[in-house]
Amino acid sequence: MVICFHSCDSVAFSTSSLQHERSLSRWRRWRCLTSAPHLLSGRQPRRVCQIKNSNGYPLNAASLQDGLAENFSAEASVEKRSKDGPKQNESTVSITVVGASGDLARKKIFPALFALFYEDCLPKHFTVFGYARSKLTDEELRNMISKTLTCRIDKRENCNDKMEQFLQRCFYQSGQYGSEENFVELDQKLRENEAGKLPNRLFYLSIPPNIFIDVVRCASHHASSPTGWTRVIVEKPFGRDSESSAELTRRLKQYLTEDQIFRIDHYLGKELVENLSVLRFSNLVFEPLWSRKYIRNVQLIFSEDFGTEGRGGYFDNYGIIRDIMQNHLLQILALFAMETPVSLDAEDIRNEKVKVLRSMRTLKLDDVVVGQYKGHTKGGKSYPAYTDDQTVPKGSLTPTFAAAAVFIDNARWDDVPFLMKAGKALNTRRAEIRVQFRHVPGNLYKRNFGTDLDKATNELVIRVQPDEAIYLKINNKIPGLSMRLDRSNLNLLYAARYLREIPDAYERLLLDAIEGERRLFIRSDELDAAWALFTPVLKELEDKRISPELYPYGSRGPVGAHYLAAKYNVRWGDLSSENS
Ligand code: BG6
Repeated sequence: MVICFHSCDSVAFSTSSLQHERSLSRWRRWRCLTSAPHLLSGRQPRRVCQIKNSNGYPLNAASLQDGLAENFSAEASVEKRSKDGPKQNESTVSITVVGASGDLARKKIFPALFALFYEDCLPKHFTVFGYARSKLTDEELRNMISKTLTCRIDKRENCNDKMEQFLQRCFYQSGQYGSEENFVELDQKLRENEAGKLPNRLFYLSIPPNIFIDVVRCASHHASSPTGWTRVIVEKPFGRDSESSAELTRRLKQYLTEDQIFRIDHYLGKELVENLSVLRFSNLVFEPLWSRKYIRNVQLIFSEDFGTEGRGGYFDNYGIIRDIMQNHLLQILALFAMETPVSLDAEDIRNEKVKVLRSMRTLKLDDVVVGQYKGHTKGGKSYPAYTDDQTVPKGSLTPTFAAAAVFIDNARWDDVPFLMKAGKALNTRRAEIRVQFRHVPGNLYKRNFGTDLDKATNELVIRVQPDEAIYLKINNKIPGLSMRLDRSNLNLLYAARYLREIPDAYERLLLDAIEGERRLFIRSDELDAAWALFTPVLKELEDKRISPELYPYGSRGPVGAHYLAAKYNVRWGDLSSENS
């Protein structure tokens, strides 16, 4: 990729190598497989990564479909001639984590990169750079990140060796976030490690949003790859409302093309969220039921059993609606409710998601309940109120809990309430999707259920975390001579079925970004549609200074959430007595 500099701040990118890379990576997926010959030879299994497209076809099959030259191989795909150097047969990826000493980087990004390395899923040549303001040596960075690296419980062989090998590929560059000079220094270090190879560069912005643009400007002017691709992963918050989000997008696009921006929503990388489409589109039993005809309501529930301790400063400026609902829950909803995409191609999926978001009714204040946790003492232990946090302004009205009823005004979902609920400092930690089906018409067994027919409806639960599971509540006859029915679960508990640890969401997303697979990243029009839905109500809540309903730390949240659900004849599935 070639960057053309203009006298103004904006930078245009030549697209030839970008398009080439795009068409390839659209189809390319690394999949770690264990090769079989060891079964005969008795040798240790050797792990190899096989490149496959997102449909599971081998790459060359996919590249034919994609209209590209025949017989593309992985090697051929990266064989390019550098403008100023010899023919390059191999590429390298430099991953720069900007904000390397922050919590997210230490707890999630470095461990995810190590996990990918451990699984042999990173390209053969790669380096990881930490960039932050603190003055650290390479050794100090390695020490810092070694504390958070872990091997999967089910795979501990060679763990220490692998960690050592990984750490040797990690380097540090200290610098200011808005310093062009410091990014020139970073560029020099990157070049030293890239010598003789086609350089590709990935920047992960693990920094507060107010410095996104400074970093992107400096990186695009001074640390973009001269000949390979350059991609930037950005973490939310993407603005506070429609206007600020549009402004952020506009400014990012002064330096990057949309294809270079990878807006991460880590919920899209969670195993069960990724599985949603598989469940629905590859099982005959689900898709025909997936509409207003059979589904009574859908519930999207997020709860945490801890407060905002330590993050109050950030959180107070955003609140739970922006922190969880407008992104994590809404993304799940869009995947859940979208029409069948033309293919598994990123653009086809994102097109369908945008259609759902744009068909949604703008949220009204009447359909929202907000809450905030208050201090509470239980069993001799005291739990703080949200406003006890030193970093939260006294008298803050920022909601730490919200429930909302949203509607999709299209033929499939007309009048089906989608209820969302998100809260901090509740009684439990969980994220799940609950699908409550309609009553069986003319149910022959209705007498066996008593008067509460709701109790007899089928419910499909997709538990995203913890203890990942998919279960379907059905009515069943209790064995015996009498006709007694009970509610039982057809239960797919992941821990019992799949004896392997589930990768962290960041692993999948980082791998996708390296591969140029955009399916799980948010496109700018998706973001606009998501903000359009929530911005008016957020403004109204703030303008009218609506007081949140207080709920005790560790409780089930404000009572208002029950009234909101009742307004649409819904009961929260997670609060029912038989919730399991
Ligand atoms: C983040 C929110 O996006 O997601 C946090 O900013 C929240 O407030 C976190 O705690 C939850 O993520 P997970 O993966 O732990 O459920």
